[in-house]
Amino acid sequence: MTQLDDRSGVDLSDIEFWVRPTAEREAAFARLRETEPIKFFEEPQPESFPRGPGYWALTRYQDVVEASRQPELFCSGGGTNIPDFPPDFNDFFGSMINMDDPRHSRMRRIVSRGFTPKMLDSLKGQVERAAVEIVDDIVERGECDFVTDVAALLPLRIIVDMLGIPRSEERFIFDRTNIILGATDTEYVPDQTEASFVTAVLSAGQDLAAMVQALGEERVRSPKSDMITALVTADVDGEHLSPQELASFFILLVVAGNETTRNAIAHALSALTDHPDQQQRWTDDFDGLAPTAVEEIVRWATPVIHFRRTVT
Ligand code: HEM
Repeated sequence: MTQLDDRSGVDLSDIEFWVRPTAEREAAFARLRETEPIKFFEEPQPESFPRGPGYWALTRYQDVVEASRQPELFCSGGGTNIPDFPPDFNDFFGSMINMDDPRHSRMRRIVSRGFTPKMLDSLKGQVERAAVEIVDDIVERGECDFVTDVAALLPLRIIVDMLGIPRSEERFIFDRTNIILGATDTEYVPDQTEASFVTAVLSAGQDLAAMVQALGEERVRSPKSDMITALVTADVDGEHLSPQELASFFILLVVAGNETTRNAIAHALSALTDHPDQQQRWTDDFDGLAPTAVEEIVRWATPVIHFRRTVT
């Protein structure tokens, strides 16, 4: 398909666009919203895979809301990333995020057991403890790499504690989620040839699956009061996650939960450093401003840049 119209002069598929200064990117999105709020883009040509058919980008808030509210017209089952991955791949790495009803509502019913008020109450204490530990550790060292030592570690530790996974697995999980999400980054996958790339992603997924499935089996034998137990033990209707479903849900949690929150926290420090008046306002009234400050940071940072729907 050819480019129908190019009034905005923006190409969201150009990777160079995404390293332009924030103000420039924001101006580009303002132009898109103004002149071409529904615009077709060719997909970038990956180094070693066939090029996909392209996509239409909705850039107006109201259009995104409309599409999100009509899953029968705009489904998630075709995947939520732009490239067309095989259905088994989408299921394995995406779990419920790549599903439509009735599979989605069944998954949601089961996993919501892990998020009961009682579970969330105990989570609050765990979050506070994890935050204190991480800060204490830096204070003693005197300096740190904020992204690795704080922004990445906090969400990872919370998810690990929440599920009931031993802390000793933290590093193992961290390394594998970085590969899954950063597979096109030579920092995580130095050899970018097709064979090496695919092997790295699949084996990172399989490592995570094997680890959590072994824990799931252990919890079936001797249940604890953690989230893995809640997910793998059957309820009154006999519903529970199969080992395969547990593995995929776990991969979704660590991947979706880590990267997003890591980016939001890192952007927050950067934004507050650039805007000391805002930092001072928040310091002066931490509890009063925290609820709106957190929302504003997520809006400002935009840790998730796109989600795909497939028109049915
Ligand atoms: C700033 C942090 C976060 C942002 C910006 C974010 C963003 C999103 C968005 C936009 C979706 C909707 C996807 C769609 O419409 O297709 C989503 C879904 C989801 N997120 Fe997050 N997320 C964040 C943190 C987390 C955390 C911490 C977890 C888990 C510990 C998590 C787990 C999930 C799951 C399981 C879904 C799928 C829900 C479903 O299909 O019903 N996210 N997230």
